[in-house]
Amino acid sequence: MFVKCRRYIKEGDSVSQFDSICEVQSDKASVTITSRYDGIIRKLHYNLDEIAYVGKPLVDIEIDASKGVASEEDVVETPPMSHEEHTHQEIKGHKTLATPAVRRLAMENNIKLSEVVGTGKDNRILKEDILNYLAKQTGAILPPSPKAEIIPPLPKSETVPAAPKDKARKIPVPVSRPIVFSGKDKTEPVTGFQKAMVKTMSAALKIPHFGYCDEIDLTQLVQLREELKPLAQIRGVKLSFMPFFIKAASLGLLQYPILNASLDESCQNVTYKASHNIGVAMDTEQGLIVPNVKNVQVCSVFEIASELNRLQSLGSAGQLGTNDLTGGTFTLSNIGTIGGTYTKPVILPPEVAIGALGKIQVLPRFNGKGEVFKAQIMNVSWSADHRIIDGATMARFSNLWKSYLENPASMLLDLK
Ligand code: COA
Repeated sequence: MFVKCRRYIKEGDSVSQFDSICEVQSDKASVTITSRYDGIIRKLHYNLDEIAYVGKPLVDIEIDASKGVASEEDVVETPPMSHEEHTHQEIKGHKTLATPAVRRLAMENNIKLSEVVGTGKDNRILKEDILNYLAKQTGAILPPSPKAEIIPPLPKSETVPAAPKDKARKIPVPVSRPIVFSGKDKTEPVTGFQKAMVKTMSAALKIPHFGYCDEIDLTQLVQLREELKPLAQIRGVKLSFMPFFIKAASLGLLQYPILNASLDESCQNVTYKASHNIGVAMDTEQGLIVPNVKNVQVCSVFEIASELNRLQSLGSAGQLGTNDLTGGTFTLSNIGTIGGTYTKPVILPPEVAIGALGKIQVLPRFNGKGEVFKAQIMNVSWSADHRIIDGATMARFSNLWKSYLENPASMLLDLK
């Protein structure tokens, strides 16, 4: 069952093969449906935000007779939700792997996919590959932003970009989408990611949560990121704090693998996961989603940042696939980008632990000599499944994670 969340065409429009028709969203992922034919849209079977059913027609397309194909009405059906299926398409006999969004980006920029080298799995062409190709043509530096606009390179003489403003100090403004108040109650079905949230959170209720909080002095890390950020930017990646938080968590999980485990339904067996697939809670227009960075244990901080950029781009476009959204083994939620200090994160089953990060604030603290200094303080709140994790384990893990972040150079010793 799908919910269409965006439509690119209307009745009477001409479409070509691979043109986007609409986006559909299930409780697992969003997928862009593309046209299999050249022709004219004759009928739309659903209005926006209606629920479409697997196997039923979405649109009728009258096939273009001038191209030698029988002129009869053909139908594009709602496909079963397999992201992979929609990303493997044949173009003129040459198999090119790319998502519809990437194909669209290529088309909009008149780029032939056959000329682009894909750096994804099985040579899949990623959005970054298209942007890299464009950047090479225009001499521009890749933008890290999800909007994928091209920004000009820094002139050689120019210094590092200005230090980030304290976003948390911004005055909150009302949301841009005003709620229309009609004076009547309104009931609407729970669909899409909200439906997934109902399922996951109801399952999480069965887990006895143990909470543990601490404060982390990020003064050194803030300084280090300022130094590394422009270097990452030159390589086309936006470096936020998350890659450090994620890598430090993975280093900690190597020491405390019970936090990267799962407990079976009957509570008889614990499975210690080999991969550190660290989920990142993302606030998107479609709602809360938690894609994960796979195999963090073998990734550098830069690779994590690059992967996070990809997930954020896809997440904000509502185009994350099932693979990115499943298989997480541990989660971090940086609610501090919005605000707050401490929170009570809810474990995502079958995972057994989650951490939530508060906003980084400049606060007075004492150094070793008893002098007051301007410290960059962030609070962390952990929740762990108390059936298999005791408080001491959670606290020791947190101490280790904290020590990596408070002395980022110490991470070097354990990085592979
Ligand atoms: N406190 C203050 N500032 C922070 C911060 C924190 N805890 N974490 C990040 N920032 C800064 C970043 O450094 C960045 O600044 P810059 O542009 O000057 O470099 C800015 O805030 C924006 O960061 P963002 O682009 O959002 O990247 P990120 O990697 O830090 O965070 C997400 C990515 C996906 C985690 C974040 O965008 C998000 O969605 N957070 C909300 C998570 C949520 O909803 N959790 C609740 C689940 S119930």
